[in-house]
Amino acid sequence: MADGAGITPRLADRLLAAGADVITLGNHVWRRREIAPYLETAERVVRPANLASSTPGRGLAVVDAEDGTKVAVLNLQGQLFMGTHTSPFEVVDELVEEARSAAKVVLVDFHAEATSEKIALSRELDGKVTAVFGTHTHVQTSDARVQPGGTAAITDAGMTGPHDSVIGVKAELAIGRMRTGMGVRFEPAHGGVRIEGALVECDADGRALSCDAVRVPVP
Ligand SMILES: [Fe+2]
Repeated sequence: MADGAGITPRLADRLLAAGADVITLGNHVWRRREIAPYLETAERVVRPANLASSTPGRGLAVVDAEDGTKVAVLNLQGQLFMGTHTSPFEVVDELVEEARSAAKVVLVDFHAEATSEKIALSRELDGKVTAVFGTHTHVQTSDARVQPGGTAAITDAGMTGPHDSVIGVKAELAIGRMRTGMGVRFEPAHGGVRIEGALVECDADGRALSCDAVRVPVP
């Protein structure tokens, strides 16, 4: 949101005012320092729950959907190839229990690099939450599904942003860094903007009925 990475309080408020119910974050959470005090009191903006416990914010939000249904949103970060503070598997049971005591519909954003870790957590949570959405790798995967226990899952929901790019960055800058190994200041690209995500339908008990990947070109 904030010039390629991270988010600011002003941008978070704009997204919420535009109709987002909850915003989840990821490994760029601390890129913009001004978000730290904001997260101390934010009720609809969550950071991965398994970061250092001394940092501001939390990983679980419980909100009312438009029709009054209580929805819990849980944000976790993967550990493989990411250097995350605490394993997501170490904290997930307690968080899911807390989420389920507050809402029947529980959505998990698992911000992680490795497909194996994302699939493993989705299987681990099958039957315990409504949906597990993988994020972070920016490339939408073709495995949107409802698992046997009734939990929807997709390994990566994809990227909302400029797809004429290297995962959002101007291609020549990303390629330049890879060719030379020299530090290059990344800039967001502009072309081929798409909204990507996943649409999950569920019953009143929070059991998923369908899960479909969504891709919407922005003219
Ligand atoms: Fe990320």
